Amino acid sequence: MLPCINWLQPFLALLSSTLLTRAHNCPSSCLCPDHHTVDCQGQGLTRLPSPIPLDVRRLLLSDNWIPLIPSDFLVLYSDLVYLDLRNNSLSALEPGTLSTSSRLVYLDLGSNNLTEIQSGTFGETQSLIKLRLGNNPHLSLVEKDAFVGLTSLRELELERNGLQGMDVRALEPLTSLRVLRLEGNPWVCNCHFAKLFVWLTENRQKLPTGMEGLECSLPMDGSLISLSLLTEASFRECRGYLSLTDILIVIFSGISVSVVAIIASFFLASLVHCFQRLGKAGQTDEEEGND
Ligand SMILES: *[C@@H]1O[C@H](CO)[C@@H](O)[C@H](O)[C@H]1NC(C)=O
Ligand SMILES: *[C@@H]1O[C@H](CO)[C@@H](O)[C@H](O)[C@H]1NC(C)=O
Repeated sequence: MLPCINWLQPFLALLSSTLLTRAHNCPSSCLCPDHHTVDCQGQGLTRLPSPIPLDVRRLLLSDNWIPLIPSDFLVLYSDLVYLDLRNNSLSALEPGTLSTSSRLVYLDLGSNNLTEIQSGTFGETQSLIKLRLGNNPHLSLVEKDAFVGLTSLRELELERNGLQGMDVRALEPLTSLRVLRLEGNPWVCNCHFAKLFVWLTENRQKLPTGMEGLECSLPMDGSLISLSLLTEASFRECRGYLSLTDILIVIFSGISVSVVAIIASFFLASLVHCFQRLGKAGQTDEEEGND
């Protein structure tokens, strides 16, 4: 037995030193409770900690002052499943930063200072199930292709942002969506809102607050009204506004109807005239030469 242990010793030494190196890899001011978790919450960090173990799966960075994520971040940490960047100072996401991750399931970018979500921001993050983007008070634009590729996404949070409107096409690729939070935005119920309103009406079971919990301001006087008090008929005027071609068709069909009516009445009148003449001709056998 003993010789065997002697023989194993170098391997054990190697193993323990590898483990120690791993432990040393934990960034200072962070905790690494297990091999795959790095916890740096509320450490006053002004940039990403370093070095982060390459095989990290859960990275907790909330309540810091981190202003940006380098664009190759998720290429480097490709095992990342859970990324919490809540309550930091992010003001923009470099295009492509989040589009390379194939394992990410949970992403929290809430309580930052994002201003827009550009097309293709989340590219191929097909594994993403929960995306938190709420409490970004200057977030006023979600582009129509912002969430393309997020086919597994079940929960999307966009509450308490600065959204006055949103292109409904942004929501259409989200085929697995179960929960959508949109409350606390300064929505404006103008004609641009009409299509989103129809979508919300049809998907109201996905809204945790229901239509009652969503408010918009009316374009006429800016007064706030709950969406539950509006109907599709409230946006009726928008249809006339949208379909100029419809109006042209109505005008032209009106004109053609009157032209047809005029021709028809001429035809009828001459027919009647003709019969009258035939009748007279049969009675008296006169006036033939006049035609
Ligand atoms: C956000 O982070 C700052 C800095 O760590 C902290 O003081 C503040 O309490 C946090 N805010 C919330 C809402 O957690
Ligand atoms: C957040 O962004 C807005 C608009 O870009 C800017 O005016 C504001 O100073 C930023 N706030 C913070 C705390 O960085």
